[in-house]
Amino acid sequence: MAATIDASRIRRVVPTGAALGAEVHGIDLRAVDAAAFHAIHSAWLAHEVLLFRDQHLDDDALIAFSRRFGDLDEAPIQETGQRFVEGYPELYVVSNVVEAGVPIGSLGYGEAVWHTDMSYLPLPPKASMLYALEIPASGGETGFCSMSASWESLPADLRARVAGRRVKHDGTYNSGGYVRAGVTPTDDPRAAPGAFHPIVCVHPETGRRSLYLGRRRNSYVEALDLAESEALLDALWAHVARAEFQWEHRWRVGDLVMWDNRCTMHRRNAFDPAERRVLHRTQIRGDSVPRGG
Ligand code: OGA
Ligand code: MN
Repeated sequence: MAATIDASRIRRVVPTGAALGAEVHGIDLRAVDAAAFHAIHSAWLAHEVLLFRDQHLDDDALIAFSRRFGDLDEAPIQETGQRFVEGYPELYVVSNVVEAGVPIGSLGYGEAVWHTDMSYLPLPPKASMLYALEIPASGGETGFCSMSASWESLPADLRARVAGRRVKHDGTYNSGGYVRAGVTPTDDPRAAPGAFHPIVCVHPETGRRSLYLGRRRNSYVEALDLAESEALLDALWAHVARAEFQWEHRWRVGDLVMWDNRCTMHRRNAFDPAERRVLHRTQIRGDSVPRGG
């Protein structure tokens, strides 16, 4: 009998049709050779967010694939004050599950607001990878937005207002609204801990420009009066939150989603607290946050 070729198993990249995102079909992330890695890397730079479905990754395999892109950052401290999964300092657990009274991960079950990961640090990760282990029947979808598309369509008056400016990326609250371990909360954006980054950045690998805002809460435009800073940030956020820059992912167990943390933001919908949602994340160390305007 003639051998048949299962076309669905041949590697191919299918864009979502939205401003960002593509699904890569036909690849087992436990066995990525040099050619496949090169194709994945180019697709990731082109589409900013990649989805790989039906994967079978344990923590070692997730870390091994992540390391192909560079050294990993240690995970932020979980809301419990615990630093990491025993033996895996690179792993961040995103979960609402509580075991023996102790949450096994961060971000709970509520909405997580738009943000870039760990941009309150001077050198934020260039990429994050999130792998789904347990997923609720509905809710908990993760939305992504392209900050390069946002920049490219930013009106001239706003471009002029952000030119040469830096914004403080707040380190007080995580995207679930929880106070980070070891931080005394303040709601004065000028006093809050965080790192300043250029509002307009240029991507170190593609040269494409993007807006870089981090998160809205407690953010502060350097050297402006608080009221001026708030007005400028409100105008920028009204622009970036437009649906045309977004794509939303509905999770299945075995999905791995990786995003370019330099030129995208993400958020998450709330879900039923009675359901379990467990994902493991790695973050690939960044090398620079170059000014783009
Ligand atoms: C993250 C994150 C949102 C989600 O892992 O960095 O923001 O969908 N996750 O759980
Ligand atoms: Mn995040």
